[in-house]
Amino acid sequence: MQKKNNIFSGKKIVVGVTGSIAAFKVAGWVSSLAKDGADVSVVMTQAACRFVAPLTYAALSGNPVLTDMFAAEEAHAISHIQLGQEADLVLIAPATANTIAKLAHGLADDLLATSVLAADCPVLVAPAMNSKMLLNPATQRNIKILRELGHGIVEPESGTMACKTDGPGRLPEWENVREQLLRSLSEQDLAGEKFLVTAGPTREALDPARFLSNRSSGKMGYALARTAWRRGADVLLISGPTTLKTPFGVKRVDVTTADEMYNGVVEACTDASVIIKSAAVSDFCPETVESEKVKKDDARLVVNLKQTPDILQQLGKMKEKHGYLLMGFAAESRDHRSAGEKKLANKNLDLIAINDISGENTGFATDTNQVTLLDAKGFTDLPLTSKEDTADYILDRISKMLREKAC
Ligand SMILES: Cc1cc2nc3c(=O)[nH]c(=O)nc-3n(C[C@H](O)[C@H](O)[C@H](O)COP(=O)(O)O)c2cc1C
Repeated sequence: MQKKNNIFSGKKIVVGVTGSIAAFKVAGWVSSLAKDGADVSVVMTQAACRFVAPLTYAALSGNPVLTDMFAAEEAHAISHIQLGQEADLVLIAPATANTIAKLAHGLADDLLATSVLAADCPVLVAPAMNSKMLLNPATQRNIKILRELGHGIVEPESGTMACKTDGPGRLPEWENVREQLLRSLSEQDLAGEKFLVTAGPTREALDPARFLSNRSSGKMGYALARTAWRRGADVLLISGPTTLKTPFGVKRVDVTTADEMYNGVVEACTDASVIIKSAAVSDFCPETVESEKVKKDDARLVVNLKQTPDILQQLGKMKEKHGYLLMGFAAESRDHRSAGEKKLANKNLDLIAINDISGENTGFATDTNQVTLLDAKGFTDLPLTSKEDTADYILDRISKMLREKAC
């Protein structure tokens, strides 16, 4: 299976650890970054060394941990500005109230502070502290200053703190922080674009217990929403029923039926610059829905169906008026290319991804996919790869089309 890219691979990431009780959590983060191929250098404040031994981070990152600006310089190990200047990204986690105050005011009395002042790359700060400390106007003002300086703030989560109080101030889950790092490291070629992505199946009720649906897991649409956000887009995801977590940063609206999907999409499309319709919407629904559960004994074995509204067709009709770029998917088990060609033309699409659902590693519910893209210029076969990489390939094409449209 061909992999497109790994954003962390080879990136120089400086992790600044400060004196918070949450310092132990970041050991797992360092380990994950190192496994993803990042070159991680950990800088610890003196207070941080009281919580976790530097050896822990050294072992997990595979690099020496720096704790003293003067000792490092004397040993010619590293200059006080070198780390910041060479980094692709600086993450300060956990960030204490003290360090946040220092950074807000440009103090430079330790290696972490000088590294941030000298940094020529994105800086992400992940505050972690007792809620009262966090909500104190002094800390809030300092966080505001950091934002004004252009630093990213990883919003702390609410919950029970180590000090046994409830409220905001906890370090978020790594999964969410990782997404913010990926956005900071990704080219923001979709910044300013408003994506509307649909995903998942729909369900059409037969009676209060039963419904007609399909095998779509929503994985492809969710991967598109996630990667579009990473690349700078604002993303609205309209999703049929799935078990998937909402991708970080993405706004999600849940619908169940094809009618609900139609109403949600038609309402939201006027605000979108790109629409990707990857949901597997039911083409049919029962003519009548039984109000009571049909008993096994009196079940009629024939269900009359009617067509559901054609969302893609409607979007195709409204496209010129609203000026969005429109992409669809064709899930086909035979005659893929000709079916894709027909759909591109009939639905007035700019781009279509043709999906072979008969393959073992492609289509519904798998983690991999192999699609063929078709636009006005012709067919492009994408490699068999993860749905996330497939999403990135598709977004490369959309990004190029948006640039051409702008000229
Ligand atoms: C047990 C303990 C836990 C602490 N946890 C935090 C914390 O979560 N967040 C915070 O801002 N300060 C916390 N502090 C206070 C900092 O360690 C203190 O302000 C220190 O000066 C921070 O230094 P630094 O910013 O250079 O790492 C804690 C102190 C102790 C003794």
